[in-house]
Amino acid sequence: MIADLTGKAALVTGGASGIGRGISLALAGQGADVVVADLNHDGARAVAAEVEALGRRSIAVEVDVTDRASIESMVGRSVDSFTDLDILINDAGVIGAPGWSERDSPADEDWDIVNAVNVRGVVMVSEAVSPMMKKRRYGKIINIASMASRYGSIDLPHYNASKAAVVSWTRSNALQLAPHNINVNAICPGMLWTPMWQQIASLRSRVDAVPEFKGLSGREYFDKTIESLIPLKREQTPEDIGAMAAFLASDDAKNITGQAIQVDGGRVMV
Ligand SMILES: NC(=O)c1ccc[n+]([C@@H]2O[C@H](COP(=O)([O-])OP(=O)(O)OC[C@H]3O[C@@H](n4cnc5c(N)ncnc54)[C@H](O)[C@@H]3O)[C@@H](O)[C@H]2O)c1
Repeated sequence: MIADLTGKAALVTGGASGIGRGISLALAGQGADVVVADLNHDGARAVAAEVEALGRRSIAVEVDVTDRASIESMVGRSVDSFTDLDILINDAGVIGAPGWSERDSPADEDWDIVNAVNVRGVVMVSEAVSPMMKKRRYGKIINIASMASRYGSIDLPHYNASKAAVVSWTRSNALQLAPHNINVNAICPGMLWTPMWQQIASLRSRVDAVPEFKGLSGREYFDKTIESLIPLKREQTPEDIGAMAAFLASDDAKNITGQAIQVDGGRVMV
């Protein structure tokens, strides 16, 4: 089987929703047990139940990836249940502070929260998990960046900058951990109709400079954007990102490290 993860244990931050849920289910489908970790504990519990329904073991853990004590407690609970972690998926992410989609331009709190969650959160969780991977000379770390890491943005510069930082950190961390046989890669998803893009669409359909895009419903705005921006002219799905994560988490990808792989229907070609 390609991407065989039988007997592996994975930790997925942001696992309660959208892409994180898709990755949790994809890893379980390939044989991994999964710690579903999220600020949203009820959502994490629901996804853990879905993982168990696939015949794998799973626990739900409440975590705030901006808080070191909370991260340590998440790692402790994971080790109590699964002894070791083979796979870490850093998926938890935000696009701004509460109310961001009502603002025409980002405020200080929007810059601060994307730095705290999308950048420092990824670094702190990786630093908490990698020592146990180093001891066993085995590990796969996958950071969820974005196609937004590759270009500028008029209305969401803070978010794009945070995702460019994730790609840069992925390369540095890959160099740091290569001597320990740990692979570190990023996935750059394109456009997925998750709660995150639903909020973006509600902002942009209100303020977009292109007249025919103004006043559309969120979903119409999303569809028109795909039509105009994505060469393959279809949206990406949590299953698409899950499939790439499962591959990168497997030994089929043992010679891939420090990469940021686009899964975006061809929007960015690097
Ligand atoms: N949706 C897209 O089109 C898209 C495209 C590119 C990249 N991404 C990235 O994919 C990842 C997942 O996004 P999504 O679209 O599934 O969004 P989502 O809002 O559905 O999921 C994000 C999850 O992260 C959790 N989270 C937020 N802050 C947290 C914190 N401090 N600690 C722990 N968990 C926290 C949320 O509770 C939520 O469950 C994000 O990193 C996002 O930037 C999304």
